[in-house]
Amino acid sequence: MRNYNETLEMLEKYNQVHLLNFYNELTADEQNALLQDIESIDFDEINNIVNSKDANDKATNFELKPMETIDKYSLSQNDKEKYQIIGDELIKNKKVAVCTMAGGQGSRLGHNGPKGTFIVPLKEPKSIFQIATEHLLEVYKKYGVYVYWYIMTSEDNDAVTKQFFEDNNYFGYSKDYIKFFKQGELPLTDFEGKILLQNKHKIFKAANGNGGIFKALEDNNIINELKANGVEYLATCNVDNILIKPVDSIMFGVLKEKNIEIGIKSVIKRDPAERVGVCGLKDGRPSVIEYIDLPKDLAEARNEDGTLKFAEAHFGSNYLSVKLLDKIANQKLPYHGAKKKNNYMGENGELIISNEVNSIKHEMFIFDGFEMAENAIVFRVKREEEFAPIKNKEGEDSPETAVKMYGEYFEKTK
Ligand code: UD1
Repeated sequence: MRNYNETLEMLEKYNQVHLLNFYNELTADEQNALLQDIESIDFDEINNIVNSKDANDKATNFELKPMETIDKYSLSQNDKEKYQIIGDELIKNKKVAVCTMAGGQGSRLGHNGPKGTFIVPLKEPKSIFQIATEHLLEVYKKYGVYVYWYIMTSEDNDAVTKQFFEDNNYFGYSKDYIKFFKQGELPLTDFEGKILLQNKHKIFKAANGNGGIFKALEDNNIINELKANGVEYLATCNVDNILIKPVDSIMFGVLKEKNIEIGIKSVIKRDPAERVGVCGLKDGRPSVIEYIDLPKDLAEARNEDGTLKFAEAHFGSNYLSVKLLDKIANQKLPYHGAKKKNNYMGENGELIISNEVNSIKHEMFIFDGFEMAENAIVFRVKREEEFAPIKNKEGEDSPETAVKMYGEYFEKTK
C-alpha cells in the first residue's frame, strides 16, 4: 500500500488531494483506513467517468427502431408446445440459473434495509425475498430440481441479506443452491468531478448500478462456475417485482430453439410517461432506452392505429446466454450519472447538508451490455401476470398497487 507521501503525490496527479485534508486530525487506525480506501480506487477510471460523461450525453442522440418481438400469448399452440418441451428439458437438466439483483438501495420506498427484506402487506404478510423463493419452490415442485439461485448484494446490504435468509431457513429452499455475491462500488463525486468524503476518514461510495452485475459475476468466478455446471442461460431479475417469474420454460425454449443470445421480457407500456425503459434497436443494436434518456418525441410517438411506437417496456426480467455474459464481462460499460441529494464532508471540515442535488452517483445499467448481443428477442408477456413492482412508498408502483395485482393474479390462478 502507498504511504502518505506516495498517496499525496498520486492524488496531485488526479487533482484529488482534498481527500487528505484531514489526515493529520485522524487516529493512526483512521489514517490507515483512509489510505487503504484511497488505494482501492481506480483513479483513471474515475477520470474517464467524469471526463467522458459518456452515457448521459450520448443518450440523447440516436436512431431508434422497434425490435423483433414475440408475444407469448400469440404463439400458436404448436409453437408453444415445441418451446415448452425444449424449455422443460433445459430446466430439468439444470441448464438454467436465476440471478436476483438485490444490491440497490430502495431509498424511494423509504425502507430501511435491503429491499428484499421489505414485508409486503399481503393478507398473510411476507417479505419480497420469501415471495421470490416461492416461485423457485413451485419450480422444484413441478420439475423436481433446485435451480441455481444467485443473489447480488452490495457492500451496504450483503451481511444483512445473508442473515435474513439464514434466520428464515432459506424459506425452505436448498441452501446449497443459493449463492450470494457482492457487486462493486464507485465513489460519489461533486459536479466538478471531485471525489466526496463521507466523513474525515472515509470515501463516500455507493453500489455501481445493476450493470455492475457482469463484472461481479466475473470477479466472483460465477461465469466459470455456470460453465462448469453446464448452465446455458441466466435469468436476471429485479428484486422489487413481486410477480416476477424468471423460470419460464417457453422463454428458455425460444432462446434455445432460435439460438438467441438475449431475451428481454416486456409488457406494454401504460402511457408515455410511465417510468420504464423501452426496448428498441438503438443505432441498429438491441437496446433498452431508460426512461430518463428517452426523448419526449420518441416517448410520445404513435403508430397509425394510435398505439405507442415504442411500447415494449423493459421490466427487469432478462435472459442471457452464458456465452453473452462472458462477452459482456470482458467489455466496459458506459456510466450514467444520477444527481442526488447527499450529506457529505466539505473540504473545510464542515458537514454539507443540502436540500438541493449536490452530488453525482455513477452507475452502470445492465441493459447497456445487451448491445453486444449478436441477436436478441423481445418477449412480450402480460403485465397482470408478471409485473407488480414495489418502488415507491405510495401512489404508483407502491406496496398498495403491487398487493392488489398480486391478489388478483392468485385469485385467477387458484
Ligand atoms: C429499472 C430499470 C427500468 C425498468 C424498471 C422496471 C434499470 C437501470 N432500469 O428501473 O428500465 O423499466 O426497473 O421496474 O435496470 N440494483 C442493484 N444494484 C444497483 C442498482 C440497482 O442490484 O446498484 C437493482 C435493484 O435492486 C433493482 C434493479 O436493480 O432490483 C433495478 O433498480 P433501479 O436501478 O432502481 O432501476 P429502476 O428505476 O427501478
